[in-house]
Amino acid sequence: MTPNQSTAGLNVSAPTPAGPLRVDGPRLLQGLSDLARIGADPRGGITRPSFSPADREAVRWLRDWATEGGLHTEVDPAGNLLVRRPGRRHRLPVALMGSHLDTVHNAGHLDGAYGVLAAVETVRVLSAASAECRYEPVAVAFANEEGALFPQPFWGSRALMGETGDMSVDPVDNEGRSLREPLSLIGGDLDRVAEAAWHPADIVAYLELHIEQGPVLEQAGSRIGVVDAIVGRIVFDIELVGAAGHAGTTPMRGRKDPLAAAAQITLAVRETATRRRLCQRATVGRLEVSPNSTNVIPGTVRMTAEFRDGDADRLELLEKLLHREIPAIAEELGVHAVVQTSTRVRARVTDERLRAAVAEAADALGLNHMTVSSGAGHDAQIMAAQVPTGMIFVPSCHGLSHVPEEHTKDEDLVAGADVLLQTAANLAL
Ligand code: GLV
Ligand code: MN
Ligand code: MN
Repeated sequence: MTPNQSTAGLNVSAPTPAGPLRVDGPRLLQGLSDLARIGADPRGGITRPSFSPADREAVRWLRDWATEGGLHTEVDPAGNLLVRRPGRRHRLPVALMGSHLDTVHNAGHLDGAYGVLAAVETVRVLSAASAECRYEPVAVAFANEEGALFPQPFWGSRALMGETGDMSVDPVDNEGRSLREPLSLIGGDLDRVAEAAWHPADIVAYLELHIEQGPVLEQAGSRIGVVDAIVGRIVFDIELVGAAGHAGTTPMRGRKDPLAAAAQITLAVRETATRRRLCQRATVGRLEVSPNSTNVIPGTVRMTAEFRDGDADRLELLEKLLHREIPAIAEELGVHAVVQTSTRVRARVTDERLRAAVAEAADALGLNHMTVSSGAGHDAQIMAAQVPTGMIFVPSCHGLSHVPEEHTKDEDLVAGADVLLQTAANLAL
């Protein structure tokens, strides 16, 4: 993993003698519950992918929620929503906090939303509590962290960090529809995405509060996780082209069945993380079969495969290997495979001084904490490439996430938000 840039300019002070500041717990919990209604899916959970109508409504809702708190909001050209104290723009280096509002399909209500609302709450409390800050606290709701509809995950944080070089000029969703109009409907502008970039030196720290999404904190009985590292990830888009035909009349010999190839490839993907131990996690999560009809041999299959590991070099080697192996598996069944890497995100470590600041804030609040690594991806890992970055986790009940059952106890949600606020206060005040 690559260490962060130096944090020589970062000033972290001890908690104020008056004792730690506190978020308004009931307000935060009510906000989370109100937001959870937006994108509620009749099949369960929340389906609110970025740039969908539900996502648009969520951005509008958050703007209202922040404005009611007397804060200033704006959407940048990439579709990121920024929330600031009123009348204090651009004067000081920024302590940025946030996460994302978008979800996967049938998601829980906390992944992303919790970190965004806690960040806005933090800006609100700091705005009310203090006139003078060394760093301007700013909250951000990053656009399209998940990539569920438009398969460009980390879109907003990449744009903010100026990583637009490898972003497509005309991104399209899973059905091939352009991002142009949906982006403009939330206040962004595809032709001006490059203008969403900040100078890294203007951001003194990025802090992201998130549910753990795994079982470690709960099993250890720890209230707060101080994140030391975030796993890296590569995603392949795989297209398998065979020959469609009649399921009853086409002999088994000589068939070119891309779904049979997809099945072999799915098992081979799994084995990279199990028997072969080439990476930590390997998942096939998306499969589109065409024509998807009971009595027709499929003609085409599109699928994704994603791989995660804490070691960037291991993922790089695996990527090269699978670009050879996957077509070879398909070829044995007479199927043609096209494999493209659609996402490549490096593993990152968090900033040592911010880790200490989070631990100190938890101590000041009397919350026990432990160091944990993140197996999920976060905007924080995009930020960490150029900006001192810290992450705070709270326990996930039964370790569940990306499912409707995702849950964290109210007292843990409030405790995590207090830690974010206290860490930000120690930076800013
Ligand atoms: C982000 O939610 C991920 O897939 O890790
Ligand atoms: Mn997620
Ligand atoms: Mn998330």
